[in-house]
Amino acid sequence: MTRPAINGNTRVYAVLGHPVEHSLSPDMHNAAFQELGLNAVYVALPSPPEQIEAALHGLRALNLAGVNVTVPHKSAVLPFLDEITPIAQKIGAVNTIRNRKGHLVGTNTDASGFLRSLEPLNFAPANQTIALLGAGGSARGLMVGLADAGAAALTIWNRTPERAQALVAELAPLFPQTRLQAVSQEELYAGRYDLVINTTTVGMSIPGAPVDLAAFQEVRHVADIIYRPAHTPLLQQAEQLRIPAINGLGMLLHQGCEAFTFWTGQPAPVGVMRNALLAGLTP
Ligand code: ATR
Repeated sequence: MTRPAINGNTRVYAVLGHPVEHSLSPDMHNAAFQELGLNAVYVALPSPPEQIEAALHGLRALNLAGVNVTVPHKSAVLPFLDEITPIAQKIGAVNTIRNRKGHLVGTNTDASGFLRSLEPLNFAPANQTIALLGAGGSARGLMVGLADAGAAALTIWNRTPERAQALVAELAPLFPQTRLQAVSQEELYAGRYDLVINTTTVGMSIPGAPVDLAAFQEVRHVADIIYRPAHTPLLQQAEQLRIPAINGLGMLLHQGCEAFTFWTGQPAPVGVMRNALLAGLTP
């Protein structure tokens, strides 16, 4: 399919981050625009933290149609939006903003994108016992999404226990139906889990695996939100132990698909977007 001409009517979308040069979102969304014949373009806009308020005013001033927001801005943008969807409010972070005539609506598609990415595992979180490794922004988003989806129990382990404890203390009152607890590594290993999710950066920027899957009583499924590399040491161990597992590519894809629909009102061309991501990841 030929790309529609960029002209005076082209709608501009972007990802705001710092750094953002290696983002795969432009590959994914430009492929989708092209597939659907939309007169739109998606670019990466490096935005230093001290400029984020100005960047959002610029969004309005220049009439950008929508943006994704990534590290380190996901929470920093909240005060500058006109409306925040309930899920983004609960997560306390926004990854997608829609601009309608200067009215900025922020939402969060990370958690729902993650939930959709579980489909290949045939796994639905309702009534399940799930362990999360890590207690940063990603863990927080997934905890909200999983509790919202009816998980029975969420067990959090983090290298720095205080962060896990703080997250549990903050989220437990919001989700009385889900048993939330922060545990030591010893307690983690003593448990049986339907799903173990890695949200730490171990396996990406730091070599190795955050935990030893063989040390657990039982692990039925594994999800790593890392997608670069595709096979982290944790996922390699899952494969050796024959535990069904996914990496973070599906989460990246589906958060993008849901952002696309939030902006355009159209179903996202999932296959085309997946292929664009895979092509972007090929060295
Ligand atoms: P994000 O917002 O993507 O979740 P983050 O807030 O920087 O990122 O969180 C990174 C996570 O990886 C944290 O849980 C961090 O643990 P600490 O809270 O103890 O820092 C975890 N992490 C980073 N390096 C780690 C390591 N070498 N071993 C174990 N956990 C690590």
